Amino acid sequence: MTPNQVREKYLKFFAERGHTVIPSAPLVPENDPTTLFTGSGMQPLIPYLLGKNHPAGNRLTDSQKSFRAMDIEEVGDNRHTTFFEMLGNWSLGDYFKQEQLPWFFEFLTKEIGLDPKRLYVSVYAGDETAGVPRDTESAEVWKKLFSDAGIDAKDIELITEENGAELGMQGGRIFYYRDKNWWSRAGVPEKMPAGEPGGPDSEVFYEFEHIAHDPKFGAHCHPNCDCGRYLEIGNSVFMEFIKNADGTFGKLPKRNVDFGGGLERIAAASQGKDDVFLVNHSYLIEALEQSTGTTYADHIRAYRVIADHIKAAVFLIGDGVLPGNKDQGYFVRRLLRRSILAASKLGTISVASLVGAIVENYKDQYPELHTKSAEIESSIRDEENRFTATLARGMKELERYIGKGSLSAQEAYELVTTYGFPLELILEEIGERGITQIDIEGFKELLKQHQDLSRAGSEQKFKGGLADTSEATTRLHTAHHLLLKALQVVLGPEVHQRGSNITQERLRIDFNYGQKMTDEQKKEVERIVNEKIQENLPVIRTEMSKDEAEKLGAEHEFGAKYPDRVSVYSVGPLENAFSIEFCGGPHVEQTSELTKAGTFKILKEEAVAQGIRRIRAVLQ
Ligand code: ALA
Repeated sequence: MTPNQVREKYLKFFAERGHTVIPSAPLVPENDPTTLFTGSGMQPLIPYLLGKNHPAGNRLTDSQKSFRAMDIEEVGDNRHTTFFEMLGNWSLGDYFKQEQLPWFFEFLTKEIGLDPKRLYVSVYAGDETAGVPRDTESAEVWKKLFSDAGIDAKDIELITEENGAELGMQGGRIFYYRDKNWWSRAGVPEKMPAGEPGGPDSEVFYEFEHIAHDPKFGAHCHPNCDCGRYLEIGNSVFMEFIKNADGTFGKLPKRNVDFGGGLERIAAASQGKDDVFLVNHSYLIEALEQSTGTTYADHIRAYRVIADHIKAAVFLIGDGVLPGNKDQGYFVRRLLRRSILAASKLGTISVASLVGAIVENYKDQYPELHTKSAEIESSIRDEENRFTATLARGMKELERYIGKGSLSAQEAYELVTTYGFPLELILEEIGERGITQIDIEGFKELLKQHQDLSRAGSEQKFKGGLADTSEATTRLHTAHHLLLKALQVVLGPEVHQRGSNITQERLRIDFNYGQKMTDEQKKEVERIVNEKIQENLPVIRTEMSKDEAEKLGAEHEFGAKYPDRVSVYSVGPLENAFSIEFCGGPHVEQTSELTKAGTFKILKEEAVAQGIRRIRAVLQ
């Protein structure tokens, strides 16, 4: 089945069971300033999951456009895409496990025609600390469903992915996991801020028999293994809990079902193809093969990058996001530039020429793309022309070097730093033209010297409370900037830093604020910091006059004296940064580097003087 057929069948199936079909919300959330993109079907429905009455009733179904910016770098394997559609059905205080699981099973096996023997499921193992019991009810429902299909479904205790890799399938059909089977926007129970809804969930996996387990992912395969043999195709969340301010869990006013299914993945399972691109982007693959004379098989990564990124960009521009330097626009620009670069490897091809095929494929479900197709195409073409011109300037330089038969480390370095030319592309070009004399090691050394130099410069300038400039301290220093801004968002813009001290183990910030922070405020601050870390924002150093920095609203420490020219660090592009501070560094280059140390957590909040509070926090 094609994705369009799966979508149609799914909406009809749930409409026949009393659900109102609601339209997809836009990719840019309408009333939620805390997140840039809609990344799941439940996001636009949060107020209703918390108890508000939905005008369309208490049974809803839809196919929600979703975009996950954090997956940009993952695109290239057989299943990761930044844009996807999430099939959804919701019970807002209506039906629960006994209806949801049989319906989904029926949909997969009867409507889509999947072989029940290829389906495996997981259920929640329970968590005593969180006070949430084991979900034996769902396990019982699954047992009966499989037994009616002639399958004796054995249940197996796996709990964690590590155990899974150690113990394997053991002939099981129903698998108990803990963290993997809890769903909330913030993740596992301990990461949820007060007021956040969540609950145990039950996932369904499709087994691609022809894929052998890859031991690179662990000794044994299990449903949550990443080797690709098992593909998660749907998740039923039994959303009945809410996190209390004291860290315990309470019950929501009504218990809900939040189901999310991967439209493209279900279509892939229906065709028995483990490569979602062959199922969902086949018309783009064909167009690329025809216009470039290359084949998908020979350029698999480039094809996948182009197909995913251009499709995501079309949908985002369709929802009003133009390529730019800030917020959502920054991601559209990144998607386009990455796809243009990938396309340049296939010959002369304009990615803008692919817009028509995408619009055509989605014209029934998303007519707005059709209405705006000229606008979408011209904005992609503009971006393409601009970026191609930059690349061409660099290419001219490169040609000069190729003409003389060698490329020195210094020349490669200039191509990268001055023309923004990716090293990968330089290597490819010179490789193809038979130049073997390139001093890669020398080039890397130059790049390192450049980084060391700017780092040393910034260390000298840095007068703040950094214990050293190790990696751990540097990460906490960036976290410190995120924290100050998050405090201003939650407590008010009048909050400023009054002191700071950062070691490899923890950061400390003193700031002006009259009261003790509530647990809710602390959780919210943690949530914002972690969200910014996940968004993988660039951390950028800019030198400017002190006046200019002040005009930008850059944060400076109370009572500190600054020279006329200052160094400023912004988290996110300067034009619309999340945080801007007078600062000499050092900092990480991208906020996601903080995840190497863990998630951001406030350990303690206390008074240190009249009107001055102190927070100790860690990445753990
Ligand atoms: N909200 C659940 C998810 O996004 C269904 O996976």
